[in-house]
Amino acid sequence: MALVSLRQLLDHAAEHDYGLPAFNINNMEQIHAIMQAAAACDSPVILQGSAGARKYAGEAFLRHMVEAAVETWPQIPIALHQDHGASPAVCLRSMRSGFTSVMMDGSLMEDMKTPGSFDYNVSVTRKVVDAAHAMGVSVEGELGCLGSLETGEAGEEDGSGAEGKLTHDQMLTDPTEAEEFVRQTGVDALAIAIGTSHGAYKFTRKPTGDILALDRVRDIHARLPNTHLVMHGSSSVPQEWLDVIRQYGGDIKETYGVPVESIVEGIRHGVRKVNIDTDIRLAMTGAMRQLMGRKPDEFDPRKFFAAATKATADLCKLRFEAFGCAGRASAIKPIPLSVMVERYDTGDLKRI
Ligand code: 13P
Repeated sequence: MALVSLRQLLDHAAEHDYGLPAFNINNMEQIHAIMQAAAACDSPVILQGSAGARKYAGEAFLRHMVEAAVETWPQIPIALHQDHGASPAVCLRSMRSGFTSVMMDGSLMEDMKTPGSFDYNVSVTRKVVDAAHAMGVSVEGELGCLGSLETGEAGEEDGSGAEGKLTHDQMLTDPTEAEEFVRQTGVDALAIAIGTSHGAYKFTRKPTGDILALDRVRDIHARLPNTHLVMHGSSSVPQEWLDVIRQYGGDIKETYGVPVESIVEGIRHGVRKVNIDTDIRLAMTGAMRQLMGRKPDEFDPRKFFAAATKATADLCKLRFEAFGCAGRASAIKPIPLSVMVERYDTGDLKRI
């Protein structure tokens, strides 16, 4: 199966009331793990690469590894999405490279540190939408800055994150503005800020409504019932893996993530794409530390990578099942990007 657009997958998810995890990829083991889990559960897949991933693996390696996944698991529809594009130029480069979806993150300026104004955000996002839709490529925009409602800090992670303190207004997407933003930009999916942040340190306690604002999801969905909502910073930070990491010499302080039940609640109210990176990092680190601790004489790196792949695949399966996307892949027939272009042209794919 060729790569499909994000829009096709999210439309299917909306039609059948489920959500899809979007897992970040950087290397072969992560791709293997996600794809093995998807094949075992018959789930469609969103693979997303950040600027950091491109720097780590190299653009050509990332592209060829994803092509290898398409060839190895032809029964699974895969969308290749660029995470947190800093500028229209970055998004265009990804489209040229074969990404079927891009995120233009105009919530921050091109330095990925300074919050951008509403008008700046609309203008850069609109530019990307015009170019992307002419190629059948989907676009995710972001309104509101990710950050902790407990501390007001965004925290830099993988090259993205506002610097300094943010106000609650900046960290909570306004429903009226969200409607206006989608109307003016024509994005296919909208990332919203509800108190989540990237990385392992999201909450100092199990989150309640004051620090994880699920009511915003409901309010935004009520105004934009046809827009696919995206939750960033949605790792659940499994306590089991934190325990393993600590037991085998790691030092991760007390911290909590977004509970899977809260994500499922979001999915009930229009969340279709759920970004997960940290959970994979934790599972891989935990599995490798554990094996190194238990077998200090082992020196074949493949043994450590295999343990990391298995831990990641197990985690991905749990998310595919919890979000309701297991069993959906075989129901999806790929729509070529050229047909998506026609649909955008005829106005079939309007979000409002
Ligand atoms: P986590 O750090 O919670 O995994 O979030 C990843 C993310 O949102 C990537 O865009």
